Amino acid sequence: MLFNLFNRNKEKSEKKEDNYLTLRIRETVQETPDTMTVYFEQPEPFLDYQPGQYLTLILEIDGKQVRRSYSLCTSPYVDPFPGITVKRLEGGLVSNYVIDNFFPGKRITIMKPLGNFVTTYHSENQQVYGMIAGGSGITPIMGILKSILVNEPQARVHLLYCSRSREMIIFREALEDLQSKYPGRLMINHHLSQSGSSPDKVSCRLNEEQVKRFYRENFISYQQNQKFFVCGPEGLMNISLSALDSLEVPRDIVLTESFYLEKKNESAQIDPEDIVSRPVKIILGGEEYAFDVGPKKTILEAGLDEGLDMPYSCQSGLCTACMGKLIAGEVVMNEDAGLSKQEIQDGYILCCSSKPKGEDVVIQIE
Ligand SMILES: Cc1cc2nc3c(=O)[nH]c(=O)nc-3n(C[C@H](O)[C@H](O)[C@H](O)COP(=O)(O)OP(=O)(O)OC[C@H]3O[C@@H](n4cnc5c(N)ncnc54)[C@H](O)[C@@H]3O)c2cc1C
Ligand code: FES
Repeated sequence: MLFNLFNRNKEKSEKKEDNYLTLRIRETVQETPDTMTVYFEQPEPFLDYQPGQYLTLILEIDGKQVRRSYSLCTSPYVDPFPGITVKRLEGGLVSNYVIDNFFPGKRITIMKPLGNFVTTYHSENQQVYGMIAGGSGITPIMGILKSILVNEPQARVHLLYCSRSREMIIFREALEDLQSKYPGRLMINHHLSQSGSSPDKVSCRLNEEQVKRFYRENFISYQQNQKFFVCGPEGLMNISLSALDSLEVPRDIVLTESFYLEKKNESAQIDPEDIVSRPVKIILGGEEYAFDVGPKKTILEAGLDEGLDMPYSCQSGLCTACMGKLIAGEVVMNEDAGLSKQEIQDGYILCCSSKPKGEDVVIQIE
């Protein structure tokens, strides 16, 4: 059941203009054996983004539309062209497609940049920034650290960067160039996890004690002016946050970005009461739409089935592209990793991970 069908097409075309864009690939650069950066030509007007945000690629693969989020590795303050860096995942649909099929001249539909893994820059800032990255988690961090170095001449950055081996270090040369260009302002601790890859470096997965040491060596005397950015695999993020918590680093100065979460055991969470269809109302672009959310569907899936142009990207509760405000009723949210505590308190939900709990759910999507 969907009302306001009349306005749907108008709404769709307006939203298309608002949220979507076509970018032309300018260049692809092989960073490591399994990682490639894709630079896009600047559109007209220039792409408006903040360092650390991500693009949603909208691709058609084998006749099906798929979306995936990729963080911008570039800085609008430094780089003339926006770029994303994609790591090939074994069996991964989109990462393999991108690396094997993206070439200069190809046009790609994207959703305009989104994401909260961002900060503000000020020339007077005397911050000491701590960055912990694992593998492709360096991507948003690269854009942020370049922006800090150019915008905040009194700030310093300490990067703890975990890679499997020396040849898998993404942006190795670019980072070395930045260290030479900004002496004493960018300090890098490489951590290589693959045994034997470098005899002079630690050869095991990062552990909590190593994060604590990184903190004690670089931050202990600058408690007032710190900010941390953490992005990498789930294990690295858990270890880093647990170490920072135990050092009593306040969570509000620690920004995180997750690319992927291991799937939870869904069957353990199914409530027999939820095996029914329930109606929801969505306010999208100022118009109200009502439809039923069937068993085993999320609110986003049901809305997309109805042809609604609801925003989304990762569909796993991480990117917040599908965020909406719960105006009435209750939902069950299976994954809220992308939301801050404040956003949850303020009534925001993620439509890709939520199902209606009662009959009177109303959600506003901005
Ligand atoms: C906000 C955000 C920013 C992101 N930025 C980047 C980026 O800058 N660079 C980048 O390479 N990726 C990034 N990602 C991850 C990216 O969106 C895709 O999830 C990733 O490329 C895998 O997609 P796929 O289609 O190849 O794999 P799929 O076909 O979706 O999955 C294949 C298999 O791999 C598992 N899997 C999926 N994703 C991951 C993962 N990230 N790690 C480990 N296992 C996984 C799946 O469970 C499945 O078994 C980002 C994700 C988010 C949410
Ligand atoms: S689509 Fe990414 S959090 Fe819902």
